[in-house]
Amino acid sequence: MSRVDNLVLVGLMGAGKTTVGRQLAQILKWPFLDTDQVLEERCGADIPWIFDIEGEAGFRRRETEVLADLSGRAQLVIATGGGIVLAEQNRAMLRQCGMVVYLAADVEQLFARVAHDTHRPLLQVADPRAVLRKLLLEREPLYREVASLVISADRQRSPRAVAEQIADEYHRNRPAELAG
Ligand code: S3P
Repeated sequence: MSRVDNLVLVGLMGAGKTTVGRQLAQILKWPFLDTDQVLEERCGADIPWIFDIEGEAGFRRRETEVLADLSGRAQLVIATGGGIVLAEQNRAMLRQCGMVVYLAADVEQLFARVAHDTHRPLLQVADPRAVLRKLLLEREPLYREVASLVISADRQRSPRAVAEQIADEYHRNRPAELAG
């Protein structure tokens, strides 16, 4: 079965998936969707509230449902929540739904971007840097498993430059049956 033609960004919290994704959507003239935002809109509640009421397990169930819906569509730029790769079922859907790009950044860069954030329940702890370090260790192999492209999202490069590189790679690698 051929892959569906979407561009999907994966990576840890603070990697810049939403910012880069919006730029990429502008370049490709495709709609942009963020799984966290879609989930919040559907649920009518924000992520901290969902974690509070339903726990992480409830959030993950909803996240899988959103991914299943979006992965049936085409020509979307999709930014995903950092934990989407944890479920094997999600990883299988990600591989099928288009070109998956891992936005890689080191712990210090991630921390700099999320240090003052209050919207990410997993980081509302005494030492968020230590949590990021642990999550990066656990998840990096999973991001690499699903991604066909790994891009460094480091501080020296603007989100626009990163998005342009992804768009170039997409045009170079787009499956022949989808080109035209
Ligand atoms: C999570 C990342 C968040 C959001 C939720 C859980 C994670 O998304 O899905 O807070 O497990 O890494 P971002 O990566 O967009 O911050």
